This record gives sequence, C-alpha cells and structure tokens, in this order.
Amino acid sequence: MTSTDSAAAGHATPLLVSTPAELRAATTRLLDVARVTGAGGREPSLGLVPTMGGLHEGHAMLARTARADVDVVVASIFVNPLQFGDQADLERYPRTLEADLRLLGAEGTHVVFAPSVQDMYPGGDPLVRLHAGRMGEVLEGASRPGHFDGMLTVVAKLLNLGLPGVAAGYRAYFGEKDAQQLALIRRMVLDLNIPVRIDGVPIVRDDDGLALSSRNRFLSDEERGSALVLSRVLRSLRERTRRGADIDLAAARAEVAAARGVELDYLEVVDPTTFLPATPVFGGADAPADAPGGRLAVVAARVGAVRLIDNTRLDPVG
Ligand code: PAF
Repeated sequence: MTSTDSAAAGHATPLLVSTPAELRAATTRLLDVARVTGAGGREPSLGLVPTMGGLHEGHAMLARTARADVDVVVASIFVNPLQFGDQADLERYPRTLEADLRLLGAEGTHVVFAPSVQDMYPGGDPLVRLHAGRMGEVLEGASRPGHFDGMLTVVAKLLNLGLPGVAAGYRAYFGEKDAQQLALIRRMVLDLNIPVRIDGVPIVRDDDGLALSSRNRFLSDEERGSALVLSRVLRSLRERTRRGADIDLAAARAEVAAARGVELDYLEVVDPTTFLPATPVFGGADAPADAPGGRLAVVAARVGAVRLIDNTRLDPVG
C-alpha cells in the first residue's frame, strides 16, 4: 500500500504536500481511487479544510465534519502573512506541524497542504488582492485593517488550488467562531461565482465555556479565568433573548469591561450575513442561500496581550 492508499483508508498519517502541483496530483489521484473503490458510481466529492495550524479540537471538528460529508479531505496549513497587520503577531502564531499532522490523521484527513510563503506567493507580495468591501471594514475589520482582504485573497487561492477540475461535490469548511470571516467567505463565493459549497461548523468550547482558539495557549491561568466573561455574557444575552426579555447591550459591555485584565473592543448584535446592526428582518433577498438566519451577538476583547473573539446566535434558527 502506498502512503496515498493508506491515507485514503483514513486514520493514517496524511500525505504531506507543499506545492500546488503536488496538491493537485494528490487530490486527482485520491479522487481517481475513490471513483473506483468508494463512490458507488457517483462522482466522488472533495472537502477542503483551510487552517493556519496550531490545531485544536475546533479544527478536529472541521476535519471530522468534512470526513463525514465527502470522499476525499484536504486540509491546508498556512500562516498567511497577508492577513496579519502586526509582524510580532505573525511571528508568535503557533507552528506545530507534527502535532497538527497527528490530529488531522486521527480525523481521517487524506492530504495536508503545507506550502511555504514562496509556494503560495511565487510572485512575491501579491500586487492584486481581493478587497472585502464594506463588510470587511466593520468590527474585526475596523480593529484589524486589511486583515479580511488578506484572508479572502488566500482563501480564494486555496479554493482554486484545491479544485482539480471537479466542481460537483466540492465543499470547504470553516469554523463559526470566526463568524465575520465565514460571512465574508460566503459572500465572496456568491459574488465571485466560485463553485464551492461553504459549510460553517459550530464553535467548540472548553467545559467552562471558553471558545477554543489557537491563541488560548498564550493566556495565563488568571487571564484564562478573566476571559470566561466573554462566553458568560454571550450566554446571558442568548438566554434573555430566548426568554423574550430585552437585551441591555450597555450593561453587557460594562460587565466585560469590568473583568480583570480585559479590554473590550466591541460587543454588538449584528445580522450574521452582513455584519451590519441587526434589524427585525434578517438576511435580505440577496443573502447567500446557505447563510444562517437570526441575530448574532459578537464580542472581541484583549485579555492581557491576547485578542479573543466569540459569538453566539441569539435567536433559535428554525
Ligand atoms: O481561520 C483561519 O485559520 C484563517 O483565517 C484561514 C481561513 C485559514 C485563512 O488563512
């Protein structure tokens, strides 16, 4: 059995590739294998799980969801310099390739694409980039100028690289914790006619409620305790909404700001498809068909030196 075959059987070390040509060859071959062995006469499907590494159980859930949905799963690990405004933040981002490969292997991921910066941007700093537009300028976009332009640029590249000529059954998986990122990717796919289905995967939390993040490892015990205010406040907003009680955003903001070592950036209630302030009518006629409805409460804060974000759906989605 070759490493590709054993990867195809799942629960093995994924095949590690680093160039677009290797990625295309590996996915083409795995799809060919699936065509013969597993897809029961239908065209096999392909799932892409884009990540920046530093993987945790939230990413495992993305890979697991993809593996349950599609025949061939490709994960990418690439710390994209374009989406970091701050060089120190880019350098500090965790790089844990060996552990990441083990986690993805355990979830049955077939191929891991881990390119270098040169592999991804062979022409150097890209002159042409995507622009996230109005929706990329609010909330996270206001705090991290240019972040969403860099993120969309690399996601568009990854979606194109992973697509070996099979448009049918092509899906990509993103966590709902990065809700504005997910909304922008859905919008990009709609606006630019990219033939891929975008799947959002629910936030994974620790037992105490903290949303999993690659950055949590930088929190001291005390900071971690303080960070719990974010999920606590969101949970209370959701419970109030579901009881039909009014939401007092000013009080919720004050509670976050009062937590030791926590500097609130924003706490807002938005329409999850546009990230504009939520109104009684959600989504609108031009919302992507697969976008979720309901209002979303979103929060961002700095806890010590670590910037954390979290969100929760306020209204039950029916
Ligand atoms: O969410 C992330 O890890 C990154 O923003 C993504 C989507 C992999 C693009 O670099």
